Amino acid sequence: MAARSVFRSGLFNDRVAIVTGGATGIGKAITAELLQLGCRVVIASRKSERLEAAAGELSQVISSSSSASITAVCCNIRHEDQVRNMVASTLRQYGRIDYLVNNGGGQFSSPAANMSLKGWNAVIDTNLTGTFLCCREVYNEWMKDHGGAIVNIIADMWRGFPGMAHTGAARAAVENLTKSLAIEWASSGVRINSIAPGSIFSKTAMENYKDLGPMMFQMAVPCIPAKRLGFPEEISPAVCFLLSPAASFISGATLKVDAGQSLYDSVWEIPDHSAWPAPPEGENVRALREVMKELKPK
Ligand code: ADE
Repeated sequence: MAARSVFRSGLFNDRVAIVTGGATGIGKAITAELLQLGCRVVIASRKSERLEAAAGELSQVISSSSSASITAVCCNIRHEDQVRNMVASTLRQYGRIDYLVNNGGGQFSSPAANMSLKGWNAVIDTNLTGTFLCCREVYNEWMKDHGGAIVNIIADMWRGFPGMAHTGAARAAVENLTKSLAIEWASSGVRINSIAPGSIFSKTAMENYKDLGPMMFQMAVPCIPAKRLGFPEEISPAVCFLLSPAASFISGATLKVDAGQSLYDSVWEIPDHSAWPAPPEGENVRALREVMKELKPK
């Protein structure tokens, strides 16, 4: 049973949205909330079985009196032809695209030094290039002439993303892309914003990180001012807000939905070491070193 939206029912009646990665985790919660609010939603994902199962499950949040509907389109956002097909089939079916939520993405945990070029490219292709392709196609085929709203889901990468440098780089790039497009497409009436979730727990996220999943989520909790993980249902209202007329004057912005995590502590431990380069030696540094010795507990 989906959480009940705080927004007015019928808010998105007769609107059409594409949600990439809409079959799982945050994307599924976004889709469920849009459906509850009357939206017609196309969910896109690479994995057709998972997609069909999710569409079946999500169709149950639609009340009998609602004009909402859900359609599943198999699409790997890394491939231009598949993105073209997804947008064309949405327009064939519904005749409009009001909203695009670029949520489809993924990464794996690895120190940067061990990342293969293939692994690096896969993460950049999905998170950055896939987002670009979806934005460009939706804009050229619909929003250029009719306006619309786009939300890009990024990540808490404000202090770098040690352990997942590829996704940190890609998400930071999407934040910048958001700003560029907010300016380039303003004259078409397109608003585009980003949402940067903190540590959000979902079954798919747990499975994605395999054996590391439980530890990664457990270790995050003390670093979150809320002292708990977030839920996908705590991201979807922020997406609905940014898509809605309540955000009519907001574009090029990033909304952090992280309970203050990005302002607080980092999970990444730096072991004690003596590898750091020495400061320029001189009288002042020598004198300060003497003072520093006094700082150590005796
Ligand atoms: N979600 C994660 N990776 C994806 C991809 N390549 N295409 C569509 N949705 C995705």
